[in-house]
Amino acid sequence: MKSILVTGGTGFIGSHTCLVLLEKGYNIFILDSFINSSSQSIEKIILILNEIDKDINRKIHLIKGDIKNQSDIENVFHISNKLNKKIEAVIHFAGLKSVSDSVLNPITYWENNVSGTINLCKVMEKYKCKNILFSSSATVYKSESNKLLSEDNICEPYNPYGYTKFTVERILSDISNRELSEWRIVCLRYFNPVGAHKSGYIGENPLGKANNIYPQLTRVAIGKQSKIYIFGSDWPTYDGTGVRDYIHVMDLAEGHLSAMNYLLKEKPQFKAINLGTGIGTSVLEFIRTFEKVNNVEIPFSFRDRRKGDKAFLVADNSLAKSLLNWTPKRNIEDICRDGWNWQKNNPYGF
Ligand code: NAD
Ligand code: UFG
Repeated sequence: MKSILVTGGTGFIGSHTCLVLLEKGYNIFILDSFINSSSQSIEKIILILNEIDKDINRKIHLIKGDIKNQSDIENVFHISNKLNKKIEAVIHFAGLKSVSDSVLNPITYWENNVSGTINLCKVMEKYKCKNILFSSSATVYKSESNKLLSEDNICEPYNPYGYTKFTVERILSDISNRELSEWRIVCLRYFNPVGAHKSGYIGENPLGKANNIYPQLTRVAIGKQSKIYIFGSDWPTYDGTGVRDYIHVMDLAEGHLSAMNYLLKEKPQFKAINLGTGIGTSVLEFIRTFEKVNNVEIPFSFRDRRKGDKAFLVADNSLAKSLLNWTPKRNIEDICRDGWNWQKNNPYGF
């Protein structure tokens, strides 16, 4: 069976994707510095999968390392070759992801997200591994209206984090554009990944303070925070609150599997593809749904708009549907139920 290197594989999206890859029989090599995660996510994956495969351990190689150090990446390729499990492709999740942090610490973000990726590409070239799925973001888009965002929409990031994602896309596109390039590259532009695996064993486990709406919902529900502040009641949307495309992390993980199947069978190319549901949910709707599905109360009050926010970010996902043969299967109720299940079972994370 094929071997895949998953950078950042113990993190939120990475761990759910590793689970799906293992279920399909892939060998995985995970390179992670644990700057925002814990190796316990992999222990939990083993628990989930042990029921169907008692030898699942043999398919997982977890290596601590930092993509800022080229030698750490070389080490993984070296180990894979020694084990006779040549890495066929990389799924590149490793990155820092907080928009507000990126404004405070731009150099850290550029170094980690951009220089780290350049290191990765150099090592991949050296080891003749030229297939990569890259975690990009809907943050790359300029969004000024309430229209669905398709891949040909203008890109104009509005914070350092978004610029690092856009820059990596550009670097990868330049690599692909070279004459006789053998690289197969897919940049997946995620919309708002939330929820958790339905087992309640793995979920989002941020080590610092998470500013996104979903971890705040679960924190209020469990009593760690008294209420949610909604940023703005006067957005040009149907109820005045911001609208986003919340995608269940398991749908996202399955999107990676479909993208990997696509990547490995198609000719060398560069593609950017949205992974979203195409359905918008406002902050108020999200709170109401969470309350109803989980029978909990979420107090909230309104604050001014958050700097840099947009009214409406929802995917046109038709390209992913047609090219990858992928359709998201879970809805906002599933998101509310599964994420709450994870939080209840793990009030303090891993
Ligand atoms: P996460 O923080 O849970 O996972 C990222 C993982 O990368 C962590 O395990 C972290 O320890 C690791 N990592 C970070 N820097 C590293 C380095 N230099 N070397 C090795 N490992 C390193 O985040 P996530 O939500 O799973 O996001 C995964 C990817 O998807 C990130 O690149 C993120 O920018 C991107 N993305 C996330 C979202 C989102 O809302 N979650 C949206 C769009 C794009
Ligand atoms: N919001 C609140 N109160 C909060 C937090 C958020 O009202 O305490 C609102 C925001 O104003 C926005 C919506 O909830 O309308 C979603 O905000 P998030 O912070 O959860 O997510 P963003 O859409 O701002 O950004 C997220 C990630 C980015 C990623 C992007 C992709 O933080 O890294 O989704 O669309 F790139």
